[in-house]
Amino acid sequence: MVQVKSAFWQNIVDQAQKHPAVPGLKTIPFFSMAPMEAVTDSVFRRVVAHAGGPDVYFTEFTNARSITHPKAKFSAQARLHVAEGEVMPVAQIWGNRGIDFETATKDLKEHGYQAVDINMGCPSATIIKNGGGSDMIRHFDDAATVIASAKESGLAVSVKTRLGFNELETFEKWVPFLLEQDVPLLTVHVRSRKEMSKVPAHYEYIDRLVELRDQIAPQTLLQINGDIKDRNAGLELVRQHPGVDGIMIGRGIFENPFAFEDQPREHSLEETLSLLRMQLDLYDTFNAQYGPLNFKKLRRFFKIYVRHFNYASDLRIAMMDSTNTTQVRELLDKFDQQLAAHQAEQTIAIDPNEQSS
Ligand SMILES: Cc1cc2nc3c(=O)[nH]c(=O)nc-3n(C[C@H](O)[C@H](O)[C@H](O)COP(=O)(O)O)c2cc1C
Repeated sequence: MVQVKSAFWQNIVDQAQKHPAVPGLKTIPFFSMAPMEAVTDSVFRRVVAHAGGPDVYFTEFTNARSITHPKAKFSAQARLHVAEGEVMPVAQIWGNRGIDFETATKDLKEHGYQAVDINMGCPSATIIKNGGGSDMIRHFDDAATVIASAKESGLAVSVKTRLGFNELETFEKWVPFLLEQDVPLLTVHVRSRKEMSKVPAHYEYIDRLVELRDQIAPQTLLQINGDIKDRNAGLELVRQHPGVDGIMIGRGIFENPFAFEDQPREHSLEETLSLLRMQLDLYDTFNAQYGPLNFKKLRRFFKIYVRHFNYASDLRIAMMDSTNTTQVRELLDKFDQQLAAHQAEQTIAIDPNEQSS
C-alpha cells in the first residue's frame, strides 16, 4: 500500500480498508465522486451520501481568483458551501496565476477545507482561453507555479488532468512532470483534451501510468477516471491494473444514484423517488440561503431518479415542465396516488375469494 505524506489522503486510504474485503485485492481502492460543474454541490453530495456515497467528494470547480474577489465572492461561496455534518469535500479550483492560488487556498483553509485539487483537465474553450484547465498541459511552468503557490497554504494539493491536450502520448512527459511536483494524489482522466468524452477511455495506458508513478513518486496516489460506471466496475479495473489506488466516478451517478454502494441490490421505486424528494427539500434550503438558483439546473437531475419503471417517461415529461419544487412534489404525490390505486386494483383482481365465487 502506498504511504502518503498527506494526513488527509492517508486517512482516505485507511477508511477505504473498512469496506468489505474484495476477493483478489489486498488493498481496497478508495472511490471518489468526480467534480462536476452544476452537479456536485452540497445538495447533491448529501443525496449521494444518503444513497451510499464514496470515500471522498470533490466540489464543482471554482475559479481561484473568484474565491477572494469582492464581486465574485458570493457565488464562489455557494459553490464551496459545505453543510453541517457533511463530509468535508476536496475543493477543486482552476486558474493560472500563482497569487490567486496562494490567496484562494489560504481562504479555503480558513473555511475548514483540508485539501484542494487543481483542475488541469477541463476541455472548455472559455477555461482554456483563460489559461486554466487543460491549457496547463501546454504550459508546464504555469502548472508548477500554481501547485507550489497552492502548497503555501499547507493544504493537501492534488491534481486532476488528462493524458494530453491533442496527443495522448503527451502523458509520457506531462505525467512525470506532475509526479515530480510531489503531490499526494494524481487523478488521470484517461483521454486527451481533444477527445473530450467522445471516445472510450484509454485503459490501455493505465499500467504505464502505474509504472511511472512507481518510478518517480511512489508516495503519490494514482486515481483513474473515465467511463467507470459503479463500484464493481472500479474494483474490476483495479484487479486488472494492480497499483491503481483510487477510482473516480462521474457520469455513472446519473445512471445509478446507488453507484457507490458496497453490495449492489435492487432499489424500490419508493426508495429512489425518496432521494428525489430529499434533493427537493435540500434544494429549497440552499435556495433560501444562496438563491435565487436557476431551477432549470435542478430539472436536469430528474432523469436520475425517474427512469426504468412503468410510466417513468410520462412523469419525467410532466416534471420537465415544472418551474418550482412545489409543482414537482405535487406531481410526485399524484403519481404515488395513481400507483397506489393501480396496485389496489391488481390486488382485487387476484383476490382468491373473488376468483372462487
Ligand atoms: C456535467 C459535468 C460537469 C463536469 N465538471 C467538471 C469540473 O467541474 N471539474 C472537473 O475536473 N471535471 C469536470 N467534469 C469531468 C468529470 O469530472 C470527469 O472527469 C468526466 O466526466 C469523466 O468521468 P466519467 O466518465 O466517470 O464521467 C465534468 C463532467 C460533467 C459530465
